[in-house]
Amino acid sequence: MVQRQLPNPAELLELMKFKKPELDGRKRRLDAALTISDLRTIAKRRTPKAAFDYTDGSAEGEISLARARQAFEDVEFHPGILTPAPDVDTSVEILGGPSALPFGIAPTGFTRLMQTEGEVAGAGAAAAAGIPFTLSTLGTTSIEGVKAATLRQAQGPVPPRNWFQLYVMRDREISYELTRRAAAAGFDTLHFTVDTPVAGARLRDKRNGFSIPPQLTLGTIINAIPRPWWWFDFLTTPKLEFASLSTTGGTVGELLDAAMDPTISYDDLAVIRDLWPGKIVIKGVQTVEDAVRLRDVGVDGIVLSNHGGRQLDRAPVPFHLLPSVRTAVGDDFTVMIDTGIMNGADIVASVALGADFTLIGRAYLYGLMAGGRQGVDRAIAILRTEIERTMRLLGVASLAELEPRHVTQLQRLVPVARDAAESAAR
Ligand SMILES: Cc1cc2nc3c(=O)[nH]c(=O)nc-3n(C[C@H](O)[C@H](O)[C@H](O)COP(=O)(O)O)c2cc1C
Repeated sequence: MVQRQLPNPAELLELMKFKKPELDGRKRRLDAALTISDLRTIAKRRTPKAAFDYTDGSAEGEISLARARQAFEDVEFHPGILTPAPDVDTSVEILGGPSALPFGIAPTGFTRLMQTEGEVAGAGAAAAAGIPFTLSTLGTTSIEGVKAATLRQAQGPVPPRNWFQLYVMRDREISYELTRRAAAAGFDTLHFTVDTPVAGARLRDKRNGFSIPPQLTLGTIINAIPRPWWWFDFLTTPKLEFASLSTTGGTVGELLDAAMDPTISYDDLAVIRDLWPGKIVIKGVQTVEDAVRLRDVGVDGIVLSNHGGRQLDRAPVPFHLLPSVRTAVGDDFTVMIDTGIMNGADIVASVALGADFTLIGRAYLYGLMAGGRQGVDRAIAILRTEIERTMRLLGVASLAELEPRHVTQLQRLVPVARDAAESAAR
């Protein structure tokens, strides 16, 4: 028999711990987000459909991005035991400078569309966290504006760094001039993006009738009703346009096709190499052979990337490529990776399998859309916590201690052996 008694009011009082309500709505919202997926949910609620879909979507059937995320989910970690790591060091040296965390912010075009603070929020949050921020050629804040935002926020022991992403356009002089300006502003690394000879088929943009500048249709007006703050920002801040490119209207894809040169080649790389005084990395590498060739022509590093699945759909999953690229190029060549990173554990797994550094695109943009600068701070904080916790659980105290033995890539999709396929066909 259970022995019962009258409830004791003093005990009851002790149980009732009401927290002081958080009056700052943005902080309350962001504090409740525990993962990047949570930030995505908030972002979707607060951002007009066309802008959210432009960010969240990828090309064709969106298979590349789904596979990339699946590949990270299919990681199996192998922790060491009884190897205490009470303090973990998440800092790295990358491309001649420090970063407090093993990731930086990837270049994203048209960022003020997602939330009006755009690149200024990204650059400020990155500087405050001691990680690099990459400005896109298709940015909506100028090179000089990003530099100013970075300097304003710089704090702590890690000096602020900016990287610049270059598209080589049909009108070469525009690209060369941007390169010179970024160098003059002290950006230390150039990311030369090579996976965009033409735009990928961003079907969500087509279906939404999304254009630059955004246009008001009956649909957008109805969609705007529950998202008044985005529209208030849009209408009360400087015109949303590319900082370095004049626009002629149309979807981002149409604009890319008009501006980009499908004939760029190794000759362009040689020209850019001569113009750029700092480090140069090639972004959008997708085969082992190209990685080796780029190492041999003397670039400072590569980013294994399929552009977040926004270009060639069903392109190789960068995380799958990583171990063989690392083996082929050796230990001394800088290999970075992006596409699909949604969790700090994805970053830890990448470092364990040989990445020197990682880049985040959407993870940062979901934070931006969820709450401007504070949202980006939150996204970085979530990833930092996940990285530190994963390292502690693995029993490693520094990133240098991470090794391939810590990770198995479980694979759902196994390539058909060429010989088997050929004999089956006979
Ligand atoms: C909205 C958006 C815009 C992007 N714009 C550019 C760009 O202008 N230049 C570029 O090199 N990559 C661009 N990217 C690709 C990112 O730099 C990065 O490769 C990709 O976002 C990584 O995948 P993730 O979003 O899953 O992290 C863009 C990505 C997104 C999501």
